[in-house]
Amino acid sequence: MASILTSLGRTVAAGFVLLLVLLVLFGSNVDPTNSGWLRFAFRWLHVMFGVMWIGLLWYFNFVQIPSMPKIPDEQKPAIGKVIAPTALFWFRFSAMFTVAAGLITAVINGYAHQAFTLQPEFRAIGIGMWLALIMAFNVWFIIWPNQKKALGIVAVEADAKAKAARLAMLTSRVNTLLSVPMLYMMVAQQNGGL
Ligand code: HEM
Repeated sequence: MASILTSLGRTVAAGFVLLLVLLVLFGSNVDPTNSGWLRFAFRWLHVMFGVMWIGLLWYFNFVQIPSMPKIPDEQKPAIGKVIAPTALFWFRFSAMFTVAAGLITAVINGYAHQAFTLQPEFRAIGIGMWLALIMAFNVWFIIWPNQKKALGIVAVEADAKAKAARLAMLTSRVNTLLSVPMLYMMVAQQNGGL
């Protein structure tokens, strides 16, 4: 067991193996050749990626940003040079895969157009999708380019660095704000929440 849990890769693989065992034992609906099950599988992948994305967004806002002023200057590079770049890597790619799996889900369920045009039957998921797309845009085109300057991955003057850090922080706050209605709308579509 320790040989599994001391490796992140093996731990995640073990999670998938456990899922497989549970599906073999109890999965009476599981059929990869069935389009109904495949549509479900994309929804599941979408939620997995989404949890990682929003989990990291909330980690930045609830943990990392408020902790920075309490960390002595000589220890700050541990966050800026080690933790933040790794967190940002998983953050932006989980955002990308959430969007991809979400769009695929909408397309293979046949309601992407109705959702994007906010037709009454798909208004909840449509609003959720628009909010999440704005958030993904912010991740890739505002937060990440500015974080590269703030973390010194791209060299800029001290003044520009401070401005970039502030813009990245405020945009991350915007995404935290949007995450509340976005998640409500995502879950509302299946469950009559709107
Ligand atoms: C642009 C990005 C996104 C798109 C295009 C998108 C699209 C979708 C679609 C099409 C569904 C299926 C709705 C249905 O048929 O009931 C869905 C469900 C869902 N999404 Fe998203 N989504 C996005 C971002 C997110 C994010 C960031 C999260 C965060 C965790 C998330 C969490 C969920 C959840 C929990 C469900 C409910 C699954 C269910 O009730 O079966 N989505 N999304």
